[in-house]
Amino acid sequence: MSDKKATLKVDGLDETIELPVYSGTLGPDVIDVGALTSRDMFTYDPGFVSTAACESKITYIDGGKGILLHRGYPIDQLAEHSDYLETCYLLLYGELPTAEQKETFVSTVKRHTMVHEQIRTFFNGFRRDAHPMAVMCGVVGALSAFYHDSLDISDEHHRQVAAFRLIAKMPTLAAMSYKFSIGQPFMYPDNNMGYAENFLHMMFGNPCEPSNVSPVLARAMDRIFLLHADHEQNASTSTVRLAGSSGANPFACIAAGIAALWGPSHGGANEAVLEMLEEIGDVSRIDEFVSRAKDKDDPFRLMGFGHRVYKNFDPRAKVMKEAADDVLAELGIENDPLLAIAKRLEQIALEDPYFIERKLYPNVDFYSGIILKAIGIPTSMFTVIFAVGRTVGWIAHWHEMISGSYRIGRPRQLYTGHTQRDFVALEKRG
Ligand code: ACO
Repeated sequence: MSDKKATLKVDGLDETIELPVYSGTLGPDVIDVGALTSRDMFTYDPGFVSTAACESKITYIDGGKGILLHRGYPIDQLAEHSDYLETCYLLLYGELPTAEQKETFVSTVKRHTMVHEQIRTFFNGFRRDAHPMAVMCGVVGALSAFYHDSLDISDEHHRQVAAFRLIAKMPTLAAMSYKFSIGQPFMYPDNNMGYAENFLHMMFGNPCEPSNVSPVLARAMDRIFLLHADHEQNASTSTVRLAGSSGANPFACIAAGIAALWGPSHGGANEAVLEMLEEIGDVSRIDEFVSRAKDKDDPFRLMGFGHRVYKNFDPRAKVMKEAADDVLAELGIENDPLLAIAKRLEQIALEDPYFIERKLYPNVDFYSGIILKAIGIPTSMFTVIFAVGRTVGWIAHWHEMISGSYRIGRPRQLYTGHTQRDFVALEKRG
């Protein structure tokens, strides 16, 4: 915080309004506009393009420079030297764990991987062809009906237990939503395995044979979770904060985050990337689709390109691209037709003035879709995997808000509807 002030002069208002300006440790200053309400005025910022909705110490992004820091640590360093659960610890508690702290954290997460047996029955209420994100919205929200002993948000212990339960159970529920859709038996978690390895075991294993998860694929999966772990005040995280600001329980708040993530402009983009590559179908048709993306009268957009915040290469996309190259080399899939389309599309978009002028770089979803496809994850599960990785970010933000001072989130509006008018009786209308 600082002594800086912004002065606002409004036409028709005699006085100038002084507004406090606050500085963070990094990033732009913010103007506190709270004093405007008493002058019967609001700010107007659809899409929250220049609105800071909270103070946070968790994640910092500089979209212009392509920087992403979790608790100060650059994402590429975490992706290279850390793993998903260690990054979860960092996001939740603010520091990297000691060896002992890490061991305790990992073993606590592992002790919560199983879900209440009744949840297996709950799944039977869904259609087999339901989208796994639809199932996840329902089942994660329903956790609040199963875990009554971690719903008191004013109790720090309850909050901690809810955090462990959510991080631990998300892979189990995600794999169950897939197994249900293909009519295979649910797999119980194997707590001798690592987090990502266990997820792949529950996704692709069956009770009749021992699981054999490739360490290379488990490492790639772990990186995907890590690279999605948090991303500051994006649409789903802001949704979780808004839901949480009313005092809703953590399971309900995370279900709200899952719903917000589902949209194709946010987490649904990785699924949309693969659908788009399939629709393009052949390298020879790329130019046609690029022209459509540039045509103002065509709603088509190149999925996996552009970002609200990054106007430079998304640092996660850089790591994801390297991971994609590793996985493809390891699996020996260099001649896949969809990958050929993806690579050509990336090259064209990076050279085309339309994309260069608008700073539309390939985003993290462009490459994650490619890796997930190579690992054998069905397209409909892509956004679910994003949700599994992002759960820790949602909880870290929810916890930061609940353990500090907060008010219910309640935006205002610029009303452009009718002014007051008298009710017209039915027989007099028309
Ligand atoms: N293809 C073609 N043109 C695009 C694209 C795209 N993918 N993205 C943006 N543009 C154009 C817009 O038409 C606009 O052009 P104009 O200035 O001539 O009108 C300009 O670039 C700016 O775009 P906006 O829509 O204003 O950018 P905004 O910040 O609102 O949207 C978004 C960001 C939603 C990510 C957008 O780039 C998009 O739809 N991308 C495709 C979907 C996608 O990949 N989403 C994943 C985001 S990453 C994540 O959630 C993890």
